[in-house]
Amino acid sequence: MKHLVILAAACLAACATPSQSQSANTLAGSEGALKVSAATSTRAPTLHGDKPIVIAHRGASGLYPEHTAPAYKVAIEQGADFIEPDLVVTSDGVLIARHDHFLAATTNIADHPEFADRKKVKVTPLGEQDDWWVEDFTLAEIKTLKAIQQFEGRETKYDGKYDILTFDEVMDIALEAAKSGHVVGLHVEAKWPGEFAALGFDMPDLMIAAMDRKGLKAAGIPVYIQCFEPPFLTEFASKSDLPTIQNMVGPPYAAMLGLDYKLEDIHTTGVGAEKSMILNTDGTTSDFVDRAHELGLLVHVYTVRDDHPGEGFADSRAEFRALFDAGVDGVWTDYPATGLAVRDAE
Ligand code: G3P
Ligand code: CA
Repeated sequence: MKHLVILAAACLAACATPSQSQSANTLAGSEGALKVSAATSTRAPTLHGDKPIVIAHRGASGLYPEHTAPAYKVAIEQGADFIEPDLVVTSDGVLIARHDHFLAATTNIADHPEFADRKKVKVTPLGEQDDWWVEDFTLAEIKTLKAIQQFEGRETKYDGKYDILTFDEVMDIALEAAKSGHVVGLHVEAKWPGEFAALGFDMPDLMIAAMDRKGLKAAGIPVYIQCFEPPFLTEFASKSDLPTIQNMVGPPYAAMLGLDYKLEDIHTTGVGAEKSMILNTDGTTSDFVDRAHELGLLVHVYTVRDDHPGEGFADSRAEFRALFDAGVDGVWTDYPATGLAVRDAE
């Protein structure tokens, strides 16, 4: 329950206050800004009147194992505005792209007998879990693993084929795309920074140093920084002018986890909302987007999936349409091609 205590306490603290109107696009270099602003439209009811961004959630993760090179590259080919690496830290302090710090669900570590004795029970927000944990492995060890598909019903023929990527390697994919004239942004999430800080790893410092070394700003790569933990965002904003997104836990878990904070208490560039905060099950929409926009907050929403449309929607296209009509500024999706098709069908 350590996570919960940290997060609950964190929610009582006020965040730093970067510019509320700051957006990733405005921070891009000239080339990046031009490419991304091609989506500008006066019709969309977004905060700044731009078309909403489509964020490839863990890459085109509906098609390939999440956070792999093909997942990111296909998302870019499909035209996603942003790709989304979630970041955790290895035992030797390297940022890698994984949604979780446990490894069994998305890698073939269970097939590695040399790591069998590394499996251990740890306490997570959802209870005890017997697994292999990224913080117990060096990058060299992680690089002996391959990614696998974790969601039932999705393609498994790529299991065991693709490497686990470092943050550097994800940035390289975006930089390569930019060199060939296709600017894609990075919507970067720090996972469990409080836990990694307790292990001696300062995620804001690691991330800022990594992005500086790669020269993302000079290359015109737009960047958002997102997290569920307010202290991380406060620290990050004190060290960087990149726009920050406060992710919000959806009901009923927000109250359960003590993370049921108010929009009025959030001072990041925007929020990452769970979609049920916006879409009611009776087909109507809540006033969440309007309230956030009145406070100057961007609203990015997670997560739309073709294979699991939200309750009350015939398919993900209808769900995308409802979110765009509600005025959201961005949507995370495992299927960026669908989101782009709906957004650009107008
Ligand atoms: O980061 C926001 C969005 O990605 C949803 O969260 O749990 O899929 O990383 P998660
Ligand atoms: Ca994420």
